[in-house]
Amino acid sequence: MRTVFINIRELLQVRPQGQKSVAGDAMKTLPKINNAFLIVQNDCISDFGSMTNFRAQNGDEIIDATDRLILPCWCDSHSHVVYAGNRSQEFVDRINGLSYEEIAKRGGGILNSAKTLQNTSEDDLFEQSIDRIEKLIRLGTGALEIKSGYGLTTDAELKMLRVIRSIKHHSELKIKSTFLGAHAVPEQYKTNKVAYVDLIINEMLPKISQENLTDFIDVFCEKGYFDLVDTKRILTAAKNYNLKSKIHVNQFNTFGGVKLAVDFNALTVDHLEQLEDKDIVALKNSETMPVALPGCSFFLGIPYTPARELINAGLPLALASDYNPGSSPSGNMNFVVSLACIKMNMTPEEAINAASINGAYAMGISEQYGSITRGKKANLILTKKMRSYNQIPYEFGNNPVHNVMLNGQFIE
Ligand code: NIG
Ligand code: FE
Repeated sequence: MRTVFINIRELLQVRPQGQKSVAGDAMKTLPKINNAFLIVQNDCISDFGSMTNFRAQNGDEIIDATDRLILPCWCDSHSHVVYAGNRSQEFVDRINGLSYEEIAKRGGGILNSAKTLQNTSEDDLFEQSIDRIEKLIRLGTGALEIKSGYGLTTDAELKMLRVIRSIKHHSELKIKSTFLGAHAVPEQYKTNKVAYVDLIINEMLPKISQENLTDFIDVFCEKGYFDLVDTKRILTAAKNYNLKSKIHVNQFNTFGGVKLAVDFNALTVDHLEQLEDKDIVALKNSETMPVALPGCSFFLGIPYTPARELINAGLPLALASDYNPGSSPSGNMNFVVSLACIKMNMTPEEAINAASINGAYAMGISEQYGSITRGKKANLILTKKMRSYNQIPYEFGNNPVHNVMLNGQFIE
């Protein structure tokens, strides 16, 4: 049977097969069809076009989308949504004057989340995480990358990655997993960071790949966390397991991490709140996608990634939530798109491109997700009634989603 949307006010992000991302000036265009139809068969988009060319068939299930828009679900390529408890006390500590870095130095931050997670059962961790994910689906997220990195022991990292695997099986969302053992240096390795990197390379990575628990590798390449030497060692080891990398870099300091990531042909470099000209030079002529995380800038009050510099240099850009308990305790991609427009001077077209097709590229799934294309998965947002897609970022804090279809089925 066919599910057919008719009278769609705007069918957005219509792309030809084979297009994997969009860069530079081309990001200013969001290809669309006004007054459109869209046909879903099984779990895929089978056809679409202008209403003037629509012919109904016997047995069609018709959905009238008058005054509504349809766009592909958000592809959120950077999250830490599997975590235990929360860090709302640190939020209050920051209001009272402590910085994120000061809190981390006192043993708070990532180490605080790791302690809580180590004491949480796998089942409980799954329940806490799936609850967050169900809320994300209602906000229009259709594909999500999830990182480990709050375990920081072999057992706890494996626990996190198994929970991510369970989510993959349990949820209708498209999930990609990333091993981020190098998220922080555990207390007991404080004076011997090299030994912790050894543990990652010699114990964690082999076990994780034996159980086939990760799609990507990540490192928090930052002062006080992991430096260029550590990052290079981990990326070199990951090559043996054919793991592509997605690197946290340039959040607070710049010291050559972007160039290193590009040299390793990283899939993405994420954060980039600090950016130097030489980072832009490194990214040019690479296949590495820069990823901005404006929710983190908003929540921590740090600079926003200079999107204009990147896009004006002809580069692509993806937007992601960074959903995590410390620097971005929200995974609302509608708000991320608003922030990109309001705080990073991205146009609505650029922001929607960055959160859909470029987000899909940043998870290595743009052949199947991220645009309205024949044969791609029917992961669709049907919006509330509105006149134009400009209202999605404009009405910040609102949920523009009326209903969500994942793999050709409306969510309950
Ligand atoms: O992407 N920067 C490193 N990791 C996370 C924050 C983790 C935390 O504070 O728990 C981020 O912002
Ligand atoms: Fe992150």
